[in-house]
Amino acid sequence: MKFFADTAEIDAIRELAATGLLDGVTTNPSLIHKSGRDFMEVTKEICDIVDGPVSAEVVALDHDTMMREAEVLRKIADNVCIKVPLTIDGLKTCKALTEDGTMVNVTLCFSANQALLAAKAGATFISPFVGRHDDNGFDGMDLIRDIRLIYDNYAFETEILVASVRHAGHVLGSARIGADVATMPPKVILSLANHVLTDKGIEGFLADWEKTGQSIV
Ligand code: E4P
Repeated sequence: MKFFADTAEIDAIRELAATGLLDGVTTNPSLIHKSGRDFMEVTKEICDIVDGPVSAEVVALDHDTMMREAEVLRKIADNVCIKVPLTIDGLKTCKALTEDGTMVNVTLCFSANQALLAAKAGATFISPFVGRHDDNGFDGMDLIRDIRLIYDNYAFETEILVASVRHAGHVLGSARIGADVATMPPKVILSLANHVLTDKGIEGFLADWEKTGQSIV
């Protein structure tokens, strides 16, 4: 399972990239706003740090303007993945861009039928928003399960990129189902390493090591 960082914060991306565990980055207009940075500039910086796909989202609602925005964004770097909303114009844009060899992430997916459309449009990634789905009284994991089933039924190659991840449980559930990617806030990625028994184990081993009076280096 690939891990993407869901952020436009350069320091956090650098820290995660240094672990060797980071496979890509997703941004959206809200994350760009939160970073306080210029969209083009920060996207270029992220693309230089990470080898994998970096999603940059269009903001137009009509196909022609989406295509014009995508043209600007894809010039930033070879690893830019154009993010389009799950609307008919977004899907039309997805089809045109993927036929041209550009990576596309179809975002704001809340139903398996929407995911089916994205796959038919040739999307590289589909982004179902599990956290927001949960917030609205649905089960985000059911959505991932349905999409996995449908994509496997028809051998669609579109990767399921689980988005709006709020906690480690979303990551575990997605991995059990066989989602291809999870995009997470940096603190969620880091939290996956935490376990109270790991901390307790280290504490015990170090206390005993101290008593041996030895050193390794
Ligand atoms: C990523 O591609 C999505 O835009 C992001 O995961 C949305 O997360 P949120 O629901 O926490 O805003």
